[in-house]
Amino acid sequence: MRLLTHRSLNPSRFAALTPSSTIAANDRLQALRAAGKDVLSFNVGEPDFPSPPPAVEAARKSLAQGYTKYAPSMGLPALRSALCEHLRDNNGLELNPDQVLVTPAKFGVFATILALIGEGDEVLLSDPSWVSYVPIIQLAGGTPVFVKTRTSGFVLDPADVEAAISPRTRLLILNSPHNPTGAMVSLRHLEQLADIAQRKDLWVLSDEIYERIAYDSVHHSIAALGGMAERTLTVSGFSKSYAMTGWRIGWLTGPAKMVARLGALHQHALTCLPAFVQAGALAVLQDPAAAQYQKDMVATLRQRRDLLVSGLQRIEGFACKAPAGAFYVFPETSFVLRGTALADHLLEAANVAVAPGISFGPTREDHIRLSYACSSGVIADGLDRIAEAMVGADLQPRPAEATATS
Ligand SMILES: Cc1ncc(COP(=O)(O)O)c(C=O)c1O
Repeated sequence: MRLLTHRSLNPSRFAALTPSSTIAANDRLQALRAAGKDVLSFNVGEPDFPSPPPAVEAARKSLAQGYTKYAPSMGLPALRSALCEHLRDNNGLELNPDQVLVTPAKFGVFATILALIGEGDEVLLSDPSWVSYVPIIQLAGGTPVFVKTRTSGFVLDPADVEAAISPRTRLLILNSPHNPTGAMVSLRHLEQLADIAQRKDLWVLSDEIYERIAYDSVHHSIAALGGMAERTLTVSGFSKSYAMTGWRIGWLTGPAKMVARLGALHQHALTCLPAFVQAGALAVLQDPAAAQYQKDMVATLRQRRDLLVSGLQRIEGFACKAPAGAFYVFPETSFVLRGTALADHLLEAANVAVAPGISFGPTREDHIRLSYACSSGVIADGLDRIAEAMVGADLQPRPAEATATS
């Protein structure tokens, strides 16, 4: 009998494919809690709010009416039309239903990268970035090329993007509001990036999954800018903006021909999204109560952001500004203890789970990511625990002190 081992995997495809660090951290958290540890989590990338009641009610009704069979593969016609209207009114996108594929946002990212990237192609993305882009780029045979954002405000400088372009660059990934920093790309920078994409003939993957969680700035879609509709695939969804992570529903929009091709991949991989899930999503777009629910959620998140940021600013060793969107902060740390060792220390000494910055970008050893999609009580307790665990911790010498002693 032949033994099936890991060597059976296709090495060119799976060599670089490691499990998601954020999912692994969450599994670890659950195991600690199951063992009776009182761990406060700042690790989870999902709002703690229940899904909007109109969505739950519509899905329940749809199930009761027997919508449990295969649904139209590209999405219910009513939902595709409602998305066109929603994206026209909120994002300035002019789309026909054949430019909309109803699919989980994560699959939209996967399909886009797989379709556009081949062996040796380079993909530009910001350092730091969401953890799933790199493995997917590598799976497709491409090379991720990080463009470091300016630490103050995590601005992705268009001049830095242009400087990173080579003859092999094919795709630029944008993510605004941003995971893990909460930064948002300004309209002025989007216009400059759009100009670069057109001059250098790049595709753009615009990941807008946090689009409705914006506090101080207005969210803009790059596909709405002149000349960008034909070279942009936009991915977004209900998960984060509407507290519907477990529903696994979102959308991908772009040029009709590309959407049809990516839709073929979706058909062969996923077939369709469940009809009752799509009915719930449609209710979110159509019921004003869901829109109000969403606004209230953002108002609460803003209070939590302010609580967490002001608390971190009071603890020596953390530097942090209030981000404009999403529900993450990415403070810079100046402890001698760095990266994964710092995250481990906070877990062991304070029972506080955070994500090490190094998971998100190669130069982010001196950052941690905290999600504030948890209650104010958890935030206040967590801040106390962090402060206590870091009392007296050694700080890195500042550059001037380093020179003085060397
Ligand atoms: C930046 C970013 N894009 C895409 C996704 C995937 O979203 P979904 O869970 O709706 O597929 C996530 C989820 O964490 C994310 O943070």
